Amino acid sequence: MKKLMLWAVAFVLFISCGQQEEKSEMDGFISDLMSQMTIQEKIGQLNLITPGGGIPTGSVVSTDVESKVKAGKVGGIFGIYGPDKLRQAQQMAVEESALGIPMIFGADVIHGYKTTFPIPLGLSCSWDMELIGKTARVAATEATADGIFWNFSPMVDIARDPRWGRVAEGAGEDPYLGSEVAKAMVRGYQQDDLKRENTMMATVKHLALYGASEAGRDYNTVDMSRMRMFNEYLPPYKAGVEAGAGCVMSSFNDVDGVPASGNKWLLTDVLREKWGFNGFVVSDYTSVNEMIAHGLGDLQAVSALALKAGLDMDMVGEGFLTTLEKSLEEGKVTEADIDLACRRVLEAKYKLGLFDDPYLYFDDARPERDILTEENRQFAREAAARSFVLLKNNNQVLPLKKSGTIALIGPLANDKNNMLGTWAPTGDPQLSVPVLEGIKNVAGDEVTVSYAKGANISDDPVFAEKVNVFGTRIDIDERPPEVMLREAVNTARRADVIVAVVGEASEMSGESGSRTNLDVPENQKKLIRALAETGKPLVLVIMSGRPLTLEEENELADAILQVWHPGVEAGNAIADVLFGEYNPSGKLTMTFPRNVGQIPIYYRHRTTGRPQDGDEFQKFRSNYLDSPNSPLFPFGYGLSYTTFDYSDISLDKSKISEKETLEATVNVTNTGDHDGEEVVQLYIRDVVRSITPPVKELKRFQKIHLEAGESREVSFTLSEEDLKFYNYDLDFVAEPGDFNLFIGSGDEVKEASFVWK
Ligand code: BGC
Repeated sequence: MKKLMLWAVAFVLFISCGQQEEKSEMDGFISDLMSQMTIQEKIGQLNLITPGGGIPTGSVVSTDVESKVKAGKVGGIFGIYGPDKLRQAQQMAVEESALGIPMIFGADVIHGYKTTFPIPLGLSCSWDMELIGKTARVAATEATADGIFWNFSPMVDIARDPRWGRVAEGAGEDPYLGSEVAKAMVRGYQQDDLKRENTMMATVKHLALYGASEAGRDYNTVDMSRMRMFNEYLPPYKAGVEAGAGCVMSSFNDVDGVPASGNKWLLTDVLREKWGFNGFVVSDYTSVNEMIAHGLGDLQAVSALALKAGLDMDMVGEGFLTTLEKSLEEGKVTEADIDLACRRVLEAKYKLGLFDDPYLYFDDARPERDILTEENRQFAREAAARSFVLLKNNNQVLPLKKSGTIALIGPLANDKNNMLGTWAPTGDPQLSVPVLEGIKNVAGDEVTVSYAKGANISDDPVFAEKVNVFGTRIDIDERPPEVMLREAVNTARRADVIVAVVGEASEMSGESGSRTNLDVPENQKKLIRALAETGKPLVLVIMSGRPLTLEEENELADAILQVWHPGVEAGNAIADVLFGEYNPSGKLTMTFPRNVGQIPIYYRHRTTGRPQDGDEFQKFRSNYLDSPNSPLFPFGYGLSYTTFDYSDISLDKSKISEKETLEATVNVTNTGDHDGEEVVQLYIRDVVRSITPPVKELKRFQKIHLEAGESREVSFTLSEEDLKFYNYDLDFVAEPGDFNLFIGSGDEVKEASFVWK
């Protein structure tokens, strides 16, 4: 035993000596390089530009790209794709600039590169970290095949306000689940070696709190207590950093009155000193310049502020490029400040292997071999099916029988333009599978499918114009709405079952896609009402980039399948689930409100001194005159074609002390007649503590597969670490006392309790 321990210690020492040696080699190399650099060249490394390919999300795009690269004024470029173009750009830096320092090439590869996966909010509903990690790995393989090796992903902003369009890009409302997703994605992109030709550097974004913009309006002010930050909003960023992300992006919003891009407390005290981040920080698109509009001074002042705060690379705005030298002369920044940022950018290049081979990622044979392969598309189909959440299924309308007539109705039923979802600039919508095609692929010969569009996504041309900035997403039909509606109703009357594919266009969510009304657009509601009136079984397939308010739809429909925007294999995946080829297993990662007035609404809320008891109105209690408090569908909720039964919880101890662990076990049985998967969720509640506890908080989950009739024991182990929270002094502590423990799915849970210490 002793011998074994000695070996283990020796092994750890060997590894850490190796890492130290590597680090000192890197330090030496960079010091040597920097000793040859002029101050202009150092500042040049801090400049990130885009010639305007992809999706420019601000009004500024870079000019004079070529001459700047040759003059050593560019550290990196994003928005150019393909090995040939990127090789040419790299040649300019390596062969025509004085010091030949290679550039880094980035892009927003948010949910797949060309093989587009479901939007991240959808993927998170799979609660399947292996699957999510694999989507990142596939995205990295495809992106690097096209020359991109730095990714502006994962977006890990906690979001509890579905009015904010960017909820589509993240993993929802919960800090624990969000942290698990952040780790899975960082590891998926980077794996264990950034120097490999098929891995890419991850960027954890947007530090910080971007998802808490007031009123759900994009880019808006954020203000919250530090306790809430540390307990609820910061964990996923920290998790991404701890998983080794090479880069962090600062956010547009202010944090405690100082915009994130100039916030030293955030970018240095928390990120580097508390969390030990050793990569580089990039700004968001012109977020340094935007501090002028925030009211913090002119371009020179805000650029100096950002550098001093710990921001290393300036995206697009060129405030660093054009003002830092002057600030240096005037003593507003020091050479040491510039050196530190420059060193961090050069370190990233070193870690990526660019000083060994600046052309590592430009292999002309790879795009053909690695991108959009049949295998990747098949995987996208599986990933999409696993992201869907079955919200309602009365009388087992689903799965559909593979016989009879199906009326397939709706503006999204035969559409390619919206399947990929928001932030898929590298995907090609024309390669996506519409639902109509998917249903025909899966239904077999016994089914007749009749299709009618029934309604536009929206009838409002002014609204459509705002949504159509990156191409047609809302296509207003030449026929009058009444004609389309009539055709749909007639089609429905002749069918055995109606499947209506309705909801949002892809760009109704995403960046700058905030909404104040989260209903399915009124003209589509009219269609749904008319279809319901036919009396035929009505299945709604809802596409959206966010939770919508579906109270009326929930009354009218027999079944509702929430499919988000499913990606390139949309139609096939939807058909797989509708026909029961795959039994839906997704669980919501964001609460679905009944109405917009309930927002923000999330499960992990704190208790008030006057909590409501039940859902009936009680005078002088915390509730509404005109709405229940409860959501329409809670976090963690999602049905299956089968049913699962949970035994009571058994705990191995009723009291645990420091250093002891607690094991909680339930027996889960598949009581239906379909095989299926269940996400077993464990929550705790700290009954008494020094700051108001949440009513419950997720601490563990396991996704299990059970055949019809099968039972399985599921066990979770908790320790002191799991009981900790940030107290009033922001110390991470566990406080002795009673805890409740819940295991189940969403709101349907079994309960037990234990005492700690
Ligand atoms: C977004 C970022 C994105 C960047 C570059 C910004 O507008 O907020 O998430 O990475 O543009 O495209």
